[in-house]
Amino acid sequence: MKRSLFMTLMVVALGLALALPLYAAAPKAPADGLAMKAPAGAKQPVVKFNHSKHASAKCVDCHHKKVGNTEFVKCDSKGCHADYAAKTGKDSFYAAFHGPAAKSCLGCHKAVKDKSPNAPSACPKCHVKG
Ligand code: HEC
Ligand code: HEC
Ligand code: HEC
Repeated sequence: MKRSLFMTLMVVALGLALALPLYAAAPKAPADGLAMKAPAGAKQPVVKFNHSKHASAKCVDCHHKKVGNTEFVKCDSKGCHADYAAKTGKDSFYAAFHGPAAKSCLGCHKAVKDKSPNAPSACPKCHVKG
């Protein structure tokens, strides 16, 4: 009797352990006003990002790389957009946000500006002072 109860509990525990990654695979978008990671000595005011204003985009439109299947990686992770000095190219931190690619902030905003006039291209609209 005791043994079969133990087995049942084991099966339940194993089931839960296997199911967990399925939930972890869908992280929730953080609250608005998320301070983005900026390089040390940044000259522009840090950009605060609002996920709620970007619900029309798919998570993968921006989060195009993940660790395993669970966690989104930071934009400036090693092997990603980690080059703070370069202004252009795949590794460039600057180009990830201002370059012409559809995944870049400015790249998308410029592409959608006719139908989405609230997608800003002016510096102080993203780099908000204060
Ligand atoms: C659509 C949003 C957006 C617009 C518009 C924008 N930026 Fe950025 N910029 C970012 C993001 C996001 C970062 C990276 C996060 C951070 O540094 O706060 C960044 C980082 C930077 C950096 C590197 C960090 C630093 O502060 O030294 C510079 C330089 C910069 N932007 C200059 C500009 C200038 C100049 C303009 C206007 C011509 C501009 N940006 C317009 C989003 C934007
Ligand atoms: C328009 C672009 C965009 C879209 C769409 C988007 N995100 Fe993000 N998300 C970002 C940026 C930018 C960051 C900050 C990354 C950084 O600082 O390096 C971020 C950060 C995050 C983080 C990490 C928060 C932290 O504290 O570092 C999570 C989790 C996240 N997003 C979940 C989501 C989910 C879930 C969706 C889809 C429902 C989504 N995002 C859609 C741009 C986006
Ligand atoms: C795939 C397209 C797309 C990408 C990528 C994108 N945006 Fe946007 N963004 C939009 C659209 C569309 C709007 C207008 C939403 C509306 O009309 O309410 C918008 C609006 C905004 C606004 C004005 C509303 C607010 O939140 O104050 C800011 C600021 C902004 N985006 C910053 C960013 C930054 C910073 C990034 C990159 C980290 C980014 N966006 C990437 C499509 C995009």
